[in-house]
Amino acid sequence: MMTMAFLSSSYREELTFPEGFGWGAATAAYQVEGGWDADGKGPNVWDTFTHQGGDRVFRNQTADVACGSYTLWGEDLKCIKQLGLTHYRFSLSWSRLLPDGTTGFINQKGIDYYNKMIDDLLANGVIPVVTLYHFDLPQHLEDQGGWKTGAIVEVFDAYAQFCFGTFGDRVKLWITINEPNTLALLAYDKGIFAPGVPNPGNRAYQTAHNMIKAHAKAWHSYDSLFRKKQNGQVSMSLFSPWVEPADPTSAADQEAAKGIMALALDLFAKPIFIDGDYPAVLKSQVAAMSKKQGYPSSRLPEFTEEEKRMIKGSADFFAIQYYTACLAKHQEYSEGELNILKDINTEVFPDPSWKVSQPGSWISVTPWSIRKLLKYIKDLYNNPVIYITENGFPQGDPAPLDDTQRWEYIRQTIQELYKVTAIHLDKVSLQLYCVWSLLDNFEWTQGYSSRFGLYKIDFEDSALPQVPYKSAMEYAKVIQSNGVKRPL
Ligand code: GAL
Repeated sequence: MMTMAFLSSSYREELTFPEGFGWGAATAAYQVEGGWDADGKGPNVWDTFTHQGGDRVFRNQTADVACGSYTLWGEDLKCIKQLGLTHYRFSLSWSRLLPDGTTGFINQKGIDYYNKMIDDLLANGVIPVVTLYHFDLPQHLEDQGGWKTGAIVEVFDAYAQFCFGTFGDRVKLWITINEPNTLALLAYDKGIFAPGVPNPGNRAYQTAHNMIKAHAKAWHSYDSLFRKKQNGQVSMSLFSPWVEPADPTSAADQEAAKGIMALALDLFAKPIFIDGDYPAVLKSQVAAMSKKQGYPSSRLPEFTEEEKRMIKGSADFFAIQYYTACLAKHQEYSEGELNILKDINTEVFPDPSWKVSQPGSWISVTPWSIRKLLKYIKDLYNNPVIYITENGFPQGDPAPLDDTQRWEYIRQTIQELYKVTAIHLDKVSLQLYCVWSLLDNFEWTQGYSSRFGLYKIDFEDSALPQVPYKSAMEYAKVIQSNGVKRPL
């Protein structure tokens, strides 16, 4: 009944997507679940980071309670059904399942929670897309060196095998690691995300290296031990901006734009989708800069031949997360400055003429750019099947329920995706689009000040009620008709 009332306003579909196109929404465990120490869950790096305070997160907020999804899953499910989602992407809290990160101790309550989510989704015809790890490394593993050490590769693989074995009879779409590129930059290079220790110019490469190997190992475990029986697909989701040269007539700025795409996306995608190795341009530039700085070898580690063979081809689809475009400009830096952007002599910034989603936001309103990014992936990565596992637009707090500006961004994005998938236009094999996010939630360092949800949450009310924004109602119509309205 609720769904019918929700869809009752008249809607005329004009741009129809290919049959079977997936329409989803995404969340992540730490951002929505709360229950940070409930029922035997172990602490993760974000629990520690937020509990330490120190003004690294807006108003020192934490996700101890967040949207309360650990106890209010039934309410989340109502939103999912009201929207009519075909897919729901969520992540497993590693330390809820394995409190110290290892399979030495398994928390049955954690298994029960995710079993219920998965079973409820399937009972309602919604396909679960499950991320194994979305920024919330178990604290115990961090204490042992975390992503900085090669030992994590085996530990992650054991966790992945445990999840495939426990949930893989029903989960057919897996993401191993969410945005390893964001994590490498924000957590380990800049140190503004948990665990919060900056180490510019070194740690991003070191942790990226281990994350790529961990992903590839888990993919091979799925391939050899589970695929035949479970018949699912496994990939890693990568963040990417779309980068344009600041001065399109400048050859140096054109190279700078390519350099940022290489650093942000190709550093991960080329090894996995092409040949097991990093882009040559980055290898040579980081090696040259490292040499000038007196390092005995490049700060960008090398894969062995055996590792290259393991990494090459270790993904069943291309999962991309896209928010915004930016400009790149060539900028010469002295070798005294250690920073991964400086390794490629580039500066990035938004075009001042672009609107921003909310004051101070890193997201410029550039829905046109998603088409360019998807064509880039199609051309460079041999026309893979692509899933957009996140795309969204934040509002400030208080966020109006009539979020017309935001819906216009999402609507225009979907209109671009129509061109991307259209058989008479780009013919990109795009099969799924997920909005970030189902619910307003804990937006990392911005706490609850940045609202990405299709549903508004009143975090001041202990019942944590969920109310649809206008975008939710409009998105439901798109899903219902498998298409989007062209503007008049
Ligand atoms: C992504 C991240 C999400 C969410 C989103 C909006 O990078 O995977 O967890 O925070 O950005 O900023």
